[in-house]
Amino acid sequence: MTVLARAQQADDVAEVLVTAEEIAAKVHELGVRIAADYQGKDLVLVSILKGALPFLADLMRATQIPLALDFLEVSSYGAGTESTGAVRILKDLAHPIEGRHVLVVEDILDTGHTLSYVFDHLRAQRPESVRLCVLLDKPARRVIPIEIDYRGFEIPDKFVVGYGLDYAERYRNLPFVGVLKPEVYARRS
Ligand code: PRP
Repeated sequence: MTVLARAQQADDVAEVLVTAEEIAAKVHELGVRIAADYQGKDLVLVSILKGALPFLADLMRATQIPLALDFLEVSSYGAGTESTGAVRILKDLAHPIEGRHVLVVEDILDTGHTLSYVFDHLRAQRPESVRLCVLLDKPARRVIPIEIDYRGFEIPDKFVVGYGLDYAERYRNLPFVGVLKPEVYARRS
């Protein structure tokens, strides 16, 4: 990406909700807690593609104990900025999780549809435990209650992009979490 293109992406942001520095500090804090809680346990971080990738990459390096990684890819049949509740698995785990400690690493918890489905799918494989680490929690939008074991930030009911989160597959590579200017949606609709 050129310097100009990067500047244009940042120019589309109306408001920065969480800065790169705030994210880094929180990820470090979460990693230290997770390492203490899972010391000596067979830990698998299960991340959901694609939005959680930057969070996973930073969190795993902040979690200084032996761990494994695995990935799920799900489709929420959503259009635009809403998820509909109909979820299906596009890519399943590569390795068995029976008897292991699973920590799901997600970028954002919104309605809860995605994680509710993912938790049912994981629990059916009889792991020793399944817990959740989520960077952004948007409680105003919750439809299905989900227990969060490790929470980064609670955010207001605004459509956010950056640090993995996209609008029409763009803005995932912004280093902060921000709110897009309304004219960006108008441009694409
Ligand atoms: C986002 C996010 C969660 C889900 C949360 O994924 O990563 O998986 O939406 O919404 P919910 O709580 O309302 O189910 P998205 O479908 O945008 O896919 P992506 O990770 O590939 O961007």
